[in-house]
Amino acid sequence: QIVRLEDYRPSDFLIDRVELDVRLHPTATRVTATLSLRPNPKGRADAPLVLDGDEVSLTSVALDGRPLPDSEFEASPQSLTITQPPRGPFTLTIETEIDPTSNTKLMGLYRSSGNYCTQCEAEGFRRITYFLDRPDVMAVYTTRIEADKDEAPVLLGNGNRIEAGEIAGTGRHYAVWHDPHPKPSYLFALVGGRLGRVGKTFRTMGGREVELAIYVEAGKESRADYALDALERSMRWDERVFGREYDLDVFNIVAVSDFNMGAMENKGLNIFNDKYVLASPETATDVDYANIEAIIAHEYFHNWSGNRVTCRDWFQLCLKEGLTVFRDQEFSSDERSRPVHRIAEVKTLRARQFLEDASPLSHPVRPTQYREINNFYTATVYEKGAEIVRMLKTIIGPEDFRRGMDLYFERCDGTAATVEDFLAAFAEVTGHDLSHFARWYAQAGTPRVTVTGTYDPAAKTYRLDFTQATPPTPGQPDKEPMAIPVALGLVSRDGEPLQAASDRVSPQGVFLLDKAADSLAFTGVTSQPVPSLFREFSAPVRTSLDLSNEELLVLLRHDSDAFNRWQATQTVAMRLLVAQAKGDAVADSDLADLASALCAFMEADALDDPAFAALVLALPSEADIAQEIGRDIDPDAIHHARKAMRRRIGQACRETLHRFRDSLAERGPYSPDAASAGRRALRNASLDLLAAADAALGEQLAVEQVDDAGNMTDRLAALGVLMTLPGDAREAALARFEERYRDEPLVLDKWFTLQAAIPEDGTLERVRRLMEHQAFAIGNPNRVRALVGSFAMLNQVRFNAKDGSGYDFLADIVLQVDELNPQLAARLLTSFSSWRMMEKTRQTHAKNALQRIAGKPNLSRDVGDIAARSLEEP
Ligand code: ARG
Ligand code: ZN
Repeated sequence: QIVRLEDYRPSDFLIDRVELDVRLHPTATRVTATLSLRPNPKGRADAPLVLDGDEVSLTSVALDGRPLPDSEFEASPQSLTITQPPRGPFTLTIETEIDPTSNTKLMGLYRSSGNYCTQCEAEGFRRITYFLDRPDVMAVYTTRIEADKDEAPVLLGNGNRIEAGEIAGTGRHYAVWHDPHPKPSYLFALVGGRLGRVGKTFRTMGGREVELAIYVEAGKESRADYALDALERSMRWDERVFGREYDLDVFNIVAVSDFNMGAMENKGLNIFNDKYVLASPETATDVDYANIEAIIAHEYFHNWSGNRVTCRDWFQLCLKEGLTVFRDQEFSSDERSRPVHRIAEVKTLRARQFLEDASPLSHPVRPTQYREINNFYTATVYEKGAEIVRMLKTIIGPEDFRRGMDLYFERCDGTAATVEDFLAAFAEVTGHDLSHFARWYAQAGTPRVTVTGTYDPAAKTYRLDFTQATPPTPGQPDKEPMAIPVALGLVSRDGEPLQAASDRVSPQGVFLLDKAADSLAFTGVTSQPVPSLFREFSAPVRTSLDLSNEELLVLLRHDSDAFNRWQATQTVAMRLLVAQAKGDAVADSDLADLASALCAFMEADALDDPAFAALVLALPSEADIAQEIGRDIDPDAIHHARKAMRRRIGQACRETLHRFRDSLAERGPYSPDAASAGRRALRNASLDLLAAADAALGEQLAVEQVDDAGNMTDRLAALGVLMTLPGDAREAALARFEERYRDEPLVLDKWFTLQAAIPEDGTLERVRRLMEHQAFAIGNPNRVRALVGSFAMLNQVRFNAKDGSGYDFLADIVLQVDELNPQLAARLLTSFSSWRMMEKTRQTHAKNALQRIAGKPNLSRDVGDIAARSLEEP
């Protein structure tokens, strides 16, 4: 059952209106759907009507009010077929019964902490009723929700509430919601439960009064204030930057504690994983605040990029996700520090998307086939999808980009669109042919760009020679050259401005590399420059540059591009770390040079932008180093190399770091703003390096900070430092933390995560023990990801233990979780994706674990697909 892009054809029927009557009951919810159908003029004549279903049980079906006899339809839990439907418009009334309590897949209608909620993207609506569950079938929905008043005093649906009342004598009540905007079924939502509320009124630029509200577990209302503020800022920003206005009288957000993903953009009723709504200084870190802001914005921005303009089919997923990630990244950059945010984005892109692209799971941003669409909500579709939009803006410039976006929204409003529709808008406003650029959607793999520079002092010319190549990926052995925007500049070694001219560099400083090889010549170059390439990370590529460490450190001192100042340091550190991890000789003077350059930078510049400085101080992660090595990986060697370098830097910069501890100490109440967060980040990075250099001192400082911290950011950072320092002090601090937050599941998740990442022999046993903890629940995605997911994703040495114990453990959990929640299980399984890069012994263990999974009968499609693709021969 492989679905292919090339097989797309329009639906044979359309649904114009949907009336749903949902009578909520914990185990026997009854749904009556009245669908106004008609044959699609673009479909096949005489086709039967085949509606999708998934584990629904049919009570009755009627056509234009006439109950259908068994001879006129075929029903199974997977589908409902009307063999000879009318040739003109008709209504179909379908009654089904579903059990939300036993719905552990968290798709369709389910219960979370006793509340009813839904998740329909991608194919969850068919778990509520039989339907043409595909995004190009768009209907106007009216939803009546009925429930026990005690059980669900709050009833929410899409759109505006048009009616509500009680059903006398039954203890039940109802509400009717109407959404005037036609939408695909994946944007349907309803909620019923006992929930607290915070709200405020927002006036749009066109003068519409909108009631904004966030619903959370009663008693936690104040923890939603930050999210509400972020929502208001997002709405204002989308008006100002993209000219997009909200289009209903209410906008509701509901936070639930059992949720497979981050959040969902259902029309007028966003449903969120509570981790991305609830925050207080005592329970959330600076990173949590930043994530909440970004995800609130992301889901809100979907109202235009996703809902008003939706996707024709699921192959076009990046059309809404890549674009919306780009939009939320721009929002966060405007609200916070642009370079700091860009560095954070690139770190995620490399850690997740580059990793995926180098694995057997590599796929194009627009895939051409899938077995299970839920497995394509990936870093490639989301993050690389966003990079494509960013490159487009870089190539055509901000004004044309905005004109193209306006045209896209205007032309495609109310439609289910494709990537071609998106690109056509930009081709039209610019007159450019974007067909070469469009390869970014079709060709998988991370291009590698190799650059060499040649200076001719007599002629005062400087030449850059570029080549590009993309490695083979599954199904794509041969690759074409890509259209790669290279934002660049030349930097002089003494920091003085440098004159250089080239007619192939745009006024914005961008050179377009669109051939396999090309060169760029500069004239009037009076001294040998250091090239600063891919400024702001202008393209999602890997690079090989023939720059010495010394030249790279010139960029740290003198480049005007903050991203490349950071990148230069990372490149130097990475070279040394890779060499050490591989057992190659590393000159002590090279380590000393890096350490002293970092100390000098910190002395001179760190306090100007502490957030940036904290990023410069953070060495590439163990996973980053593994990826850079790329084959025959020994995680233990990587761990030791990184540990040694941290110690070295901590020793070299000790005095400065101590000074930062004092000068950056918190004064006044906690504020989550980016500047305050940056000061905390640098202060905590200092603690981390001091502890790496001097364990006894580190332990003392960290224990003090765990106990005295005035906010979760500082407390958790200090506890994290203790994780690297085995001993009684660590265990005691963990116990105090547990006691203090015993009733805070989201905080205990952080406690699970820290312990799962301890790079010591006993960690697997510890993780097993923690799975018995009263706060752990195998059915809750946040708990499973915090403990098991973190073990697999963060703990390079223990997950990849040489005896295979980490792999076996993960395989056991994947199989166990698969019986409850296949989506969650499939996600966990992706942590095997780089198994082929490991050294031989580990490879063999990983392969055995994967084969054990693949061979299990009755696997879900989700897990079966990931296991099979992971094992495919390259
Ligand atoms: N559209 C949601 C978001 O990005 C993600 C929902 C994914 N759900 C799923 N079951 N695959 O913003
Ligand atoms: Zn999204």
